[in-house]
Amino acid sequence: MLALLVTALASLGTAALASPSYANTTSLADLALQKVLQDAAPMFGNYAASNATTASWMASIADSTKIVHMNIPGVHDSATWNYSVATQDSLDHVTALDGTTPAPPEYYRCQEKSMIDMLNAGIRVFDLRYAFDTTNSTLVFWHSEALLSETATVEDVMFGFYRWLDDHPTEALFLSFQYESSTTLYGTSDAAVQLELFATLTSPAAQKYILQTKDQFGTLGEARGHITLLRRFDFDQLPAEYEAAIPGVHFSPALWTDNSPDITLVYNSAKNLTAYVEDFYDTNGPMGSNASLNIQWKYNATTAHIQKATTMYPDSLFWTWASSEYTSNIPPETPKMMALGNGTAYTPLGGVNQRLIPFLRQQKGKRVGMVMFDFFDVPSNLVQTLLDI
Ligand SMILES: *[C@@H]1O[C@H](CO)[C@@H](O)[C@H](O)[C@H]1NC(C)=O
Ligand SMILES: *[C@@H]1O[C@H](CO)[C@@H](O)[C@H](O)[C@H]1NC(C)=O
Ligand SMILES: *[C@@H]1O[C@H](CO)[C@@H](O)[C@H](O)[C@H]1NC(C)=O
Ligand SMILES: *[C@@H]1O[C@H](CO)[C@@H](O)[C@H](O)[C@H]1NC(C)=O
Ligand SMILES: *[C@@H]1O[C@H](CO)[C@@H](O)[C@H](O)[C@H]1NC(C)=O
Ligand SMILES: *[C@@H]1O[C@H](CO)[C@@H](O)[C@H](O)[C@H]1NC(C)=O
Ligand SMILES: *[C@@H]1O[C@H](CO)[C@@H](O)[C@H](O)[C@H]1NC(C)=O
Ligand SMILES: *[C@@H]1O[C@H](CO)[C@@H](O)[C@H](O)[C@H]1NC(C)=O
Repeated sequence: MLALLVTALASLGTAALASPSYANTTSLADLALQKVLQDAAPMFGNYAASNATTASWMASIADSTKIVHMNIPGVHDSATWNYSVATQDSLDHVTALDGTTPAPPEYYRCQEKSMIDMLNAGIRVFDLRYAFDTTNSTLVFWHSEALLSETATVEDVMFGFYRWLDDHPTEALFLSFQYESSTTLYGTSDAAVQLELFATLTSPAAQKYILQTKDQFGTLGEARGHITLLRRFDFDQLPAEYEAAIPGVHFSPALWTDNSPDITLVYNSAKNLTAYVEDFYDTNGPMGSNASLNIQWKYNATTAHIQKATTMYPDSLFWTWASSEYTSNIPPETPKMMALGNGTAYTPLGGVNQRLIPFLRQQKGKRVGMVMFDFFDVPSNLVQTLLDI
């Protein structure tokens, strides 16, 4: 009986210590990190370093390379990767607190691989959407009305990125933070939200990993082992010192024209530093227009912008979003339908992602800039195709 109990306890212990690379740690610091990474897992995934070529693709690129000259794969709405019916149901009791009911999960879901898988697969730009939870006190991830986890906070997830950079010091990460409005009935980027984000992004750990330069992109050598913040938020409810003290490049929401295929955004007026952005995310065609026509519109906007990147303003940032939806259409175009089609004669040429493969191959040797994908891992050679051009 006792022997059985001991065996049972031993196997329990093994299960509890199953997270890779921490199995034999003894220091409190290591155990504390392990705890934070477990808290982060619903958003970050289960931590695992990787020796895959894609996990350190920047290693072979010269230090002197300018960031704005690089082709860098990214993901739109990174935190939606596990938003299934089961996940939505498991969060119903929390979202119900403010009386809103999210639409079916496929309206919000834009990815199917975890953030750690994204990192190891070569993704370096992450679109992260934050807001307070329904208790109006904890900073978590949302996509519109879809709460993505109640327990994994923004700060927990930052530790996943920090740890990964320790394991992959040749790599440079770009984290885009945007306040997600239309979350709860009352959600607004008020002073408390802004203070919490400021605290998260300026903590001692954050200062160690977040590049402390402001409103400019430098070289890969300077950015390696660090996070460059892409600030799609304003600290407009706080004294001016906060905006002055936060590092990273400012893409003010006021300058980011909604649903535009061609945004010219000056992020540093003193030095006239400009970014060119395509963010035509809602194709919003005539009601009843079919998916293949909506995919064609998005494909056109995406490729027109990438073509601009290959031919114009070589020293400016180009940031193209290949992600889109038209969920108010009948039938609705989900992010997945737009990115991948549905494999039938209804979308004979596939979705935006399949169509981008031959297009990207034609850009070989050219600068295309940052490109943000939905369902980045389909087709499986999409990221590799962007990296090889
Ligand atoms: C943990 O330590 C034991 C005993 O020293 C060893 O056999 C095992 O391989 C170690 N596990 C890891 C993951 O390092
Ligand atoms: C993904 O969601 C399922 C269903 O809600 C859940 O059981 C699973 O633990 C989640 N995965 C992670 C890594 O949290
Ligand atoms: C990566 O390679 C090193 C050296 O060969 C090895 O010690 C390590 O376990 C590998 N890590 C992974 C995650 O495969
Ligand atoms: C959320 O908290 C802020 C103070 O931090 C308060 O001004 C606001 O009214 C609260 N909202 C709700 C719906 O309680
Ligand atoms: C700022 O830079 C853009 C190119 O990115 C150029 O077209 C424009 O003329 C410049 N403006 C000034 C005032 O130098
Ligand atoms: C997309 O662009 C092609 C080539 O410029 C053009 O022939 C086509 O009409 C455009 N289609 C849509 C739906 O915008
Ligand atoms: C593809 O989408 C169309 C339009 O919504 C639908 O009629 C068809 O059943 C879908 N096919 C599959 C296999 O999902
Ligand atoms: C989609 O609609 C366009 C415009 O009405 C039409 O030309 C095309 O044939 C339709 N495609 C499919 C696959 O139904």
